[in-house]
Amino acid sequence: GVVLFNEGQEGRTEADVNPDLGGPSDLPVLFASYWTGRDLAATPGAEVGFTFSWETVTKSYTTYNVLAETRHGRDDNVVMVGGHLDSVEDGPGINDNGSGVGAILEVALQMAKSRPENKVRFAFWGGEEFGLLGAEHYVANLTEQERANIALYLNFDMVASPNYVYHVYDGDDSDGVGAGPGPEGSAQIEKYFEEFYASRGLASKGTDFDGRSDYGPFIAVGIPAGGLFTGAEKRKTPEEVAKWGGTAGERYDRCYHQACDDIRNINDTALDVNADAIATLVGTYAFDPSKING
Ligand code: PHE
Ligand code: ZN
Ligand code: ZN
Ligand code: ZN
Repeated sequence: GVVLFNEGQEGRTEADVNPDLGGPSDLPVLFASYWTGRDLAATPGAEVGFTFSWETVTKSYTTYNVLAETRHGRDDNVVMVGGHLDSVEDGPGINDNGSGVGAILEVALQMAKSRPENKVRFAFWGGEEFGLLGAEHYVANLTEQERANIALYLNFDMVASPNYVYHVYDGDDSDGVGAGPGPEGSAQIEKYFEEFYASRGLASKGTDFDGRSDYGPFIAVGIPAGGLFTGAEKRKTPEEVAKWGGTAGERYDRCYHQACDDIRNINDTALDVNADAIATLVGTYAFDPSKING
């Protein structure tokens, strides 16, 4: 038969069905995806000789972005920090993305007591799971001046996966993952995150900087960006277990996009360390203008 499913749903991934990635070779598969950036015509289904077509089904939602910014600080050097507030319909979305939102909120509460040199703007995006709708809308509606005033954007989507790895978005492309280097300045953000982990004696590694979360619309218009990610549907390797512990061969988040992404689906150590990483970078950029593009 033909299997048609959405990547990530019910914890299944391309590796379960694509023979090239170890899946069963006798199963023709049409591999659909609901996130942007994947070309439906270039999926494994195309290779097994199907001619296929697809329909766009439009369902109407209203979704909200919540933005809050410090009253103080230079407004021509705005440090933006964000994560998505929505979850998939299948589950409560505690790691994806209660983790990122919770960590950012704590940093925002601490920042509220301070007088930063640069303005800090916190963004809680709506509609990420339906195609980065909130962030896309925000960036598309910036005036040229507003866009130029944003010094950089930091994104946090899934920062406490139960079988975590400390991934940093590969802004300099040195890890050879993702779609090439990000806008100038992205490499520096990656470097500061790497330095944070190193200062704690912790390992980190690069991860795809391909636009699969709310930073996508920002880098698309040339705003430097960076962020952290502890892993979703892919499986942890033995080499990664040697660095971060956990379970080899198991997904980073076995409850990714499922009903079990509940309050138990959080690694407290990863959440604690990553909240500190977020605070460290936000603090650095907020209080020391020389660190921006410096
Ligand atoms: N954006 C993905 C989701 O919400 C998760 C993800 C974050 C994937 C960062 C890659 C990098 O499902
Ligand atoms: Zn998600
Ligand atoms: Zn997410
Ligand atoms: Zn890198």
